[in-house]
Amino acid sequence: MKAMEERLLMVPGPTNLSKKVREALSQPQVGHTDPDFAKNFTETLELAKKVFKNDKGFQFVFTGTGTVGMEAAVAAAVQPGDRVLVLNTGYFGQRMVDINRCYGAEVEELGAGFGFHADPDAVRKKLAGGRFKALYVTHVDTGTTVCNPITEIVKEAKKAGALAIVDGVCSVGGIELDFDGMGADVAFAGSQKALAGPPGAVLIATSKDFLAQLEAKKDKVRTYYANLLRWKGVMDDPRTYFATPAVQLMQALNQALREVEEEGLDKRWERHKSNAKIIRDGIEGTKSKLVVEEGYRADTVTGIWTAPGAAPTIQKSLREQYGIDVARGLGENNTKMLRVGHFGNLTEKQAKFFVESFGRALRSST
Ligand SMILES: Cc1ncc(COP(=O)(O)O)c(C=O)c1O
Repeated sequence: MKAMEERLLMVPGPTNLSKKVREALSQPQVGHTDPDFAKNFTETLELAKKVFKNDKGFQFVFTGTGTVGMEAAVAAAVQPGDRVLVLNTGYFGQRMVDINRCYGAEVEELGAGFGFHADPDAVRKKLAGGRFKALYVTHVDTGTTVCNPITEIVKEAKKAGALAIVDGVCSVGGIELDFDGMGADVAFAGSQKALAGPPGAVLIATSKDFLAQLEAKKDKVRTYYANLLRWKGVMDDPRTYFATPAVQLMQALNQALREVEEEGLDKRWERHKSNAKIIRDGIEGTKSKLVVEEGYRADTVTGIWTAPGAAPTIQKSLREQYGIDVARGLGENNTKMLRVGHFGNLTEKQAKFFVESFGRALRSST
């Protein structure tokens, strides 16, 4: 296949990789029990601890996408018949509902209108209405692009005695998330979004208490590959075999996490915030409407309403005229919504270039 020209990848994951991350993908093959690989992986776990701000608990990193993280969290948290509350604020909230049902949980959902956030007061009331084993919240739902107030929500869950599980796939590394500070039990991230690694690795943070409860559960975890207990031995000693990791991917993730560390997490969150503002202001400057209510718009991805049927034309023009890839809305919003990812290594200059190109693509579509 002819080498592809690098476009500005602004879909909601994956994202453009740095040169060093790409180089890490093409190192000579080493074995997964190689001492140098083990050293590199141990460093990855240390770096993962920092991105979650999870000093007190444990980190897991293994081959598998964000969905495997969702599944590992559910399998670790529930037993058939357990009552759980899923804050269903979009596509990935719905996926959490479905996964919980697969594992036999009795699911109650608390929804919000499309583009609206989960309200902590409504969460508190719902939790007061019955005992729930676990509460699941999506930090940034990539389907609607809403950013939920996870710190307040996690606190409500803990007050009500429920496990608090956070989907940070579209936020970790780009938006503030303080695992220890909010008192979450589990949070997970994907390698391919704000962390700017290639797709295919999942990062999972757990609290110490959660892991202790899980260890007590032992053979009751109803999954094989996504069973955190099986992975624990590998995390404790990366030369232990459970399932062969995607070695190059792990090396590339290590490099991506080093780059997060070099930039500094606070500075990275700030950069995401200011780029998001440039993009949102620019979009509103064209009189286009943002999908999400004010105050809850994600700093990693933005949803834009287009005229009915116009999304494919604008998407095509951005790709063909300006070399920018964006995504469309999911399901029924496929031809009237665009979703623009602005995370990872995106620079201010690129954010401004997007705004300029979007304005032009929009004008030429009418
Ligand atoms: C919020 C959220 N959760 C979970 C997932 C699933 O991740 P993956 O596609 O890597 O399985 C995604 C993917 O976009 C996501 O955005």
